[in-house]
Amino acid sequence: MKHIDIVDILAKQYNGQEVVVCGWVRSGRDSKNMAFLSLNDGTTLEHLQVVLDKAAFGDVSAYLRLGTSVKVRGTVVDAVANQGGVEINATEVVVLGECPLDYPLQKKRHTMEYLRTIPQLRLRTNTFNAVFRVRSVLAGSLHAFFQSRHFTYIHTPLITGSDAEGAGEVFRVTTHPFATPYQTEEEYYANDFFGKKAGLSVSGQLEGEVAAMAMGKIYTFGPSFRAEKSNTPRHLAEFWHLEPEVAFAELPDVIELAESMIKYVIADLMAKCPAELAFFEQHFEKGLLDKLHNIVDNEFAVLDYTDAIALLNKAAESGVNFQYPHDWGCDLQTEHERYITEAVYNKPVFVINYPKAIKSFYMKQNADGKTVAATDLLVPGVGEIIGGSEREADLDKLLAAMTERNMKMDAYEDYISLRRFGSCPHGGFGLGFDRLVMYVTGMSNIRDVLLYPRTVGNLR
Ligand code: 4AD
Ligand code: MG
Repeated sequence: MKHIDIVDILAKQYNGQEVVVCGWVRSGRDSKNMAFLSLNDGTTLEHLQVVLDKAAFGDVSAYLRLGTSVKVRGTVVDAVANQGGVEINATEVVVLGECPLDYPLQKKRHTMEYLRTIPQLRLRTNTFNAVFRVRSVLAGSLHAFFQSRHFTYIHTPLITGSDAEGAGEVFRVTTHPFATPYQTEEEYYANDFFGKKAGLSVSGQLEGEVAAMAMGKIYTFGPSFRAEKSNTPRHLAEFWHLEPEVAFAELPDVIELAESMIKYVIADLMAKCPAELAFFEQHFEKGLLDKLHNIVDNEFAVLDYTDAIALLNKAAESGVNFQYPHDWGCDLQTEHERYITEAVYNKPVFVINYPKAIKSFYMKQNADGKTVAATDLLVPGVGEIIGGSEREADLDKLLAAMTERNMKMDAYEDYISLRRFGSCPHGGFGLGFDRLVMYVTGMSNIRDVLLYPRTVGNLR
């Protein structure tokens, strides 16, 4: 069906010309001699006004119903009421799909909770139109950033036999029927599709390291899966994960890469999506634009974990009430992360050098024997959006860390062997893409930045 995108009509590329546009009616207004439709086709946040001369069209009621899809032919002219804009004087309107009066989207502001119950329709609201365009532009910018820096895009497998994070949150992949005759776990897995225990990947990192040990600089970008039963506004069972991995790199290089990446994609977003960001500023987060400018213009903070603990202890002494313990060795909880990024720094903070006991087996062990060269990037409002580290490149130290954790070595043969054949300092990180979308839009629930969010107990 040949037609012109509304975004191009509004950009005044067709003034004075006869065009065909298609879209869904976002509002309809009937006056004495004229009727007006605003149309949206998803290519822009803005609606296109279509003007119908009732003398020519007669009964226009079928065109004006919210949610109806139409095809309109007409001439692009300067808008009468909206100075500087354009509108269409229609000569022909065809209803492609009618929409009944009980359409679940009405001309009012619906709650986010209600919109979550109609995922099949919620993208027809301004909010989700803006969210999904931002999401798409950000994804494109991430690719552009890495491609321009000589990174190779690698597709790592989604079905794996290992647990990259060792946190036991792997979804199992099986073809066994509901009831199986097997007596032992070994027998059960040996007879399954792969002849061994298989699961959905929690991270592409382990395979990413394989690629980086040849291609030098790589990134993966795809879904990761975690069977975490955390029912929070920032946890998904299926999330989008961007993971660069760099050979010949140490922790400061990893941090530099992460900071440059965030600044690059936010600057690009401000250039490409000004209308969407203004919308989020107005409806979701006052100060959003200032926040984004500050991210691009200022250095991120770097804070040693040990200093973070001292800072939290001092805060507690001066009366700040934390629910969870914050002694050296404890993992930082959301309340701690928020205190650090929101109350102390009010900007993104890289926390570095965490205790080795609370981090993954693959992280480079620091000379102090207690900490690892890890970093989490914490941001106000969302908390952790990036987790990364320099990797343990020394074979014996890696094996020791795996033994301490009682890991099954045979599932990690390839990973271990990289330390035998030309090992080198290397590192990388994982960006929670959905959390980045939350951060730049001000959306406060991760369920509102994906088409079909998967969370515990929720599979629509
Ligand atoms: O900190 P994580 O667990 O680190 C890794 O998976 C490393 N293998 C990454 C690497 O070094 N290549 O996860 C990385 C990021 C987190 O900071 C968070 O933003 C996001 O992934 N993330 C989630 N996002 C939504 N829902 C979940 N359940 C998430 N789990 C992690
Ligand atoms: Mg993490």
